[in-house]
Amino acid sequence: MRSHRLPPLFGLQSAGLARHPNLLHHCDTMTNPWALSRSAPLRAARVALIASAPVLGLQACELPDASVPCDLTLAERIDTERTMDNLRVLVEDIGPRVAASPEEREAAEFIAQELESYGYEVEIQEFPRDQVVASAEVLEPAELDFDVAVGRIREVPAQEYPLLRQEPVRGPVVDCGEGGCPDEVQGGIALLTQGEGSPGELVAHAAEAGAEAAILHGDDWRRHRAAVDEEEVTIPFVTVNRDAADAIREAGTVEVELEIELFDTSQNVIATRSVEGNPEAPIVIFSAHYDSVEKSPGASDNGSGTAGMMELARLYADVETDVELRFAAVGSEEVGLVGSRYYVEQLPEEERDRIVANFNTDMIGTAGEDQTQLYVNTLDGDNVVAQAARIARDRLELPEERIRAPYDRGASDHVAFYEAEIPAANFIWRDPETADLEPWYHHPHDRMENIGEDRLRAAVEVVLAASQQLICQEGELRHEIEGRVVEVEAGG
Ligand code: BES
Ligand code: ZN
Repeated sequence: MRSHRLPPLFGLQSAGLARHPNLLHHCDTMTNPWALSRSAPLRAARVALIASAPVLGLQACELPDASVPCDLTLAERIDTERTMDNLRVLVEDIGPRVAASPEEREAAEFIAQELESYGYEVEIQEFPRDQVVASAEVLEPAELDFDVAVGRIREVPAQEYPLLRQEPVRGPVVDCGEGGCPDEVQGGIALLTQGEGSPGELVAHAAEAGAEAAILHGDDWRRHRAAVDEEEVTIPFVTVNRDAADAIREAGTVEVELEIELFDTSQNVIATRSVEGNPEAPIVIFSAHYDSVEKSPGASDNGSGTAGMMELARLYADVETDVELRFAAVGSEEVGLVGSRYYVEQLPEEERDRIVANFNTDMIGTAGEDQTQLYVNTLDGDNVVAQAARIARDRLELPEERIRAPYDRGASDHVAFYEAEIPAANFIWRDPETADLEPWYHHPHDRMENIGEDRLRAAVEVVLAASQQLICQEGELRHEIEGRVVEVEAGG
């Protein structure tokens, strides 16, 4: 086992920990991961390295062909059109992919099929997820359309949801204002305005007045996700935003069909390329959630991260490396990181301990005017993934302000990996000043027209370069499996 200090040129420096035996191999003779770069500055860097190599006792690395992992030209093979095509399947052919819904399942099957075609071993890993979902079909007038969400009763598990009806409720919508339901509400659907009183009382009142179901609204611009404490609510109720309520009132006579369904199974898609003959190889895992919130086609959140990750899988498919590669398209993120947590929890300890990094892509394809900075969100500060991202920025000669790494933020699947003490980061475009997400976040307008092809490509390029940095330099990473510590410093 060789031990040497790395020149700062490599970016990652040893912190003097015991070297993981599996992190030794071809990179010992391949000390410059960027040796084949065609860009002039990187060639210059290579020359500098070769010049300094004898002093440092290192050999410059000549790579046999373009398929080796450290070859920066891999980025030239990013196929943005293909990435966009995959994204379109998720967003337009399939549409909103609510946790545990049939559409989420359909998306999983599409992703699995695609990853399998790249040559990976693919598993669809199912897990239980009870999810109650409401939908509204406007029967009259035809031009009216609005979104609904399930009105929830706190503390009541989905499968015991007392208002669950497989049978849709049909009827005219009758305006009950902040409570006073007229007689016509009998057999119909009450439209309720949330005021000072409790939403549960409002719904109970509508039920007493003979309504078969209720539509409740407040002031939320997205969707009104009201929840009530009262368990004595006896009719199904859905929630809408104020715009929808105004449109219903304006239309006068409205006939709708409300349906509340229960889904019970969600799934992750796991693509693996293990290292032949080495069941103990270190693992780098990419992740992206492919589910969306109700009514949102989830182009940016997170068709973009999913399609981007699929492209990374395609690029890495032919790359020879002694690192095990995994690509996890996870379900049920939007309902609380359920898929990624399930994945991490069910991993045998031995496998969990082999994971050296998680690259999570979530919202990497926005066209948002202000979302111009790629944030690298972590929960443990400047971990290896954040460091690798900064090195990638330098290698790609991106301006300083293009990437912010690290930034302290959870709210995506990197959290699940972090909780298992795996160095993890989420890549996401945000406003450099305010950290705001795009205006159509979690909105029905999160669709293809708001996707920025260039932004998507740029993010894939950064994640590719950053992950290559780790995969290529695993020979230089000191990794102490026992203590779950990966400690390196970014140089340069
Ligand atoms: N992609 C979004 C938002 C996000 C990701 C924000 C990473 C910041 C960093 C994600 O799908 C999302 O909407 N997350 C939820 C939380 C989650 C635990 C349900 C959110 O931010 O409200
Ligand atoms: Zn989201």
